[in-house]
Amino acid sequence: MLVNNKDLLVPASRKGYAVGAFNINNLEALLAVSEAAVEEKSPIIVAVTPSAIKYAGLAYLSEIVKTAAKSVPVPMSLHLDHGEDFETVSKCVGAGFTSVMIDGSFLKFDENVALTKRVVDMAHPKGVAVEAELGRLAGVEEKTVEEKEAVLTDPDAAKEFVKKTGVDALAVAVGTSHGAYKFKAEPKLDFERLRQIREKVSVPLVLHGASSVPQWIIEKAVKYGAELAGAKGIPEEHIKKAISFGIAKINIDTDLRLAFTATVREVLAKSPKEFDPRKILGPAKEAMKEVVKGKMRLFGSSGKA
Ligand code: G3H
Ligand code: 13P
Ligand code: ZN
Repeated sequence: MLVNNKDLLVPASRKGYAVGAFNINNLEALLAVSEAAVEEKSPIIVAVTPSAIKYAGLAYLSEIVKTAAKSVPVPMSLHLDHGEDFETVSKCVGAGFTSVMIDGSFLKFDENVALTKRVVDMAHPKGVAVEAELGRLAGVEEKTVEEKEAVLTDPDAAKEFVKKTGVDALAVAVGTSHGAYKFKAEPKLDFERLRQIREKVSVPLVLHGASSVPQWIIEKAVKYGAELAGAKGIPEEHIKKAISFGIAKINIDTDLRLAFTATVREVLAKSPKEFDPRKILGPAKEAMKEVVKGKMRLFGSSGKA
């Protein structure tokens, strides 16, 4: 069934688990995440970015997710991830998205407040939940600013931001970043900052850039020809700790991409005569599904649907 993020995140936040938001760009990824949710009896957020929309088309993506939501016995939301402007967000609301993120993290505080408030005022009357971001991760957001350093979220500013905008969930920057190369040295998150944000902000908190970049997947991909030297993610123990410090939504894209890539490479290397896309993409879908199921167990959302 199709629900919005608020329906999923308020209980998660209250009961101390997190719901995974998994990025999809195509049918295989959608099948992987929805089958995983059914098998784990887990609520799930299906996330679509503007570049996924550019790749596959808004109507195609929104319709396949709505079709999935209708046919699964678990609550599923269709969420715009990193919506960059009011127009994109409005189009997604029009296409039936149940949740949207407006990412004004590259703006000055007052401009981020104004843009986010405008989205909230448009989305809430339609029953659509809104996520915003304060602070800035390295990675996706760095494309839009000159400075590449992450800006960690200030707890007092977070409190003021939520009060002024009325958002339903807040993405925070506490040391994670997007992609497969999150740390040059040891992984480190600012848990003290997260604790302070939690103390001051009552809406569910969101952790972007949360892939763990499992080394066994990296090793498999590299075995079959990938070049991924230095890839490093967030250790699972850090994820568990972040949930215990109040994170209720966790965004995962990179780990699905890695699982997909490693498996496609393996199939092509082991079966050079194969040219049926289903025999190549089918195993890749299964690999993504296993990753998602593992996340649901780690996040504590298994059995919560
Ligand atoms: O934050 C989400 C991503 O991992 C980047 O996704 O390449 O679809 O923009 P994208
Ligand atoms: P990863 O790159 O760590 O998977 O993060 C994904 C994300 O935050 C999507 O919004
Ligand atoms: Zn993100």
